[in-house]
Amino acid sequence: MLKQLEALRIQAFEELSRIDDPEELDLWRVRYLGKKSGLTRILRSLATLPLDERRKIGAQANKIKKALESDLTEKERYLQETFLTLSLEQKRLDVTLPGRPIPTGRLHPITQTLEEICDIFKNMGFQVFEGPDVEWDYYNFEALNIPQYHPARDMFATLWLDSWVDRKARLLRTHTSPMQIRIMEHKRPPIRAIVPGRCYRYEATDATHESMFYQVEGLAVDKNITFADLKGTLFDFCHHLFGEETKVRLRCDYFPFVEPGAEVAIQCLACRGSGCRLCAYTGWIEILGAGMVHPDVLKHVDIDPEVYSGFAFGLGVERIPMLRYGIEDIRLFYSNDLRFLKQF
Ligand code: PHE
Repeated sequence: MLKQLEALRIQAFEELSRIDDPEELDLWRVRYLGKKSGLTRILRSLATLPLDERRKIGAQANKIKKALESDLTEKERYLQETFLTLSLEQKRLDVTLPGRPIPTGRLHPITQTLEEICDIFKNMGFQVFEGPDVEWDYYNFEALNIPQYHPARDMFATLWLDSWVDRKARLLRTHTSPMQIRIMEHKRPPIRAIVPGRCYRYEATDATHESMFYQVEGLAVDKNITFADLKGTLFDFCHHLFGEETKVRLRCDYFPFVEPGAEVAIQCLACRGSGCRLCAYTGWIEILGAGMVHPDVLKHVDIDPEVYSGFAFGLGVERIPMLRYGIEDIRLFYSNDLRFLKQF
């Protein structure tokens, strides 16, 4: 039995030295130190042996048991340590590496411009409204003093959605002016409103024309509103947007829904008035149409033109960032090229 014990010890030791992972180690523990192991069996059978043999073998068996147990703990500690260093080695995390940049979005240059324009007017006490892109003929033309066969309809190359039946045809609004009517139908003076929004025209596109573009409409109606109010408001606006020193010019123009009508131009930002390609060598760039609301328009919405008067204006939006940043093609805004858009 002593020999048996000795052989067991040698075998156990040899196997242990080849083990290199915790699962195998556990199996080894069961094999040599478990309830059904040879060693346990010998220890259990001690009672049946004669006294002196029991002493000898008992002492030896216990010695071996202790030795195996301490070998086991040592191996456990060793495996734990190597596992730790190994995983530290493999899963190494370099906390000094710079992070990967997260691409952030930004507002479209036209949205930025719209917000800037609206802010200037909001500070003057104007309220922001929005209206539908699909509009009735009535609001886009009829109520704005442009009846069906009026030649001024030629000013607006219209995208029609319906054929003209019963004076009820739909179209894509050609300007934001229909909102003048919608606002006055719902609100009595005093009115101070601005309307940013998309407009559409049936036109071939080129560097300065798009079939979809933005306008900001303005409308002020109250007692005693005069042309001086219009001039003061728009000059102030231009100075806010383009700088105090920018020269602003008012000239006569015609729109069926205002009387008198005017055009507002600013001195060309590129050449400061001396003439260049951008301003077609005139030194001036037209940015908006305006005028005093026509009495017939007020009558359409039951506002008495003998008591009230108002001014209105319509501003082209794309031109503003084009002028400011020297963008030469309006189509760049709507072609979704990130290389272009990222610059703003
Ligand atoms: N709606 C006109 C246009 O699109 C601009 C305008 C608005 C002119 C209001 C006068 C008053 O051209």
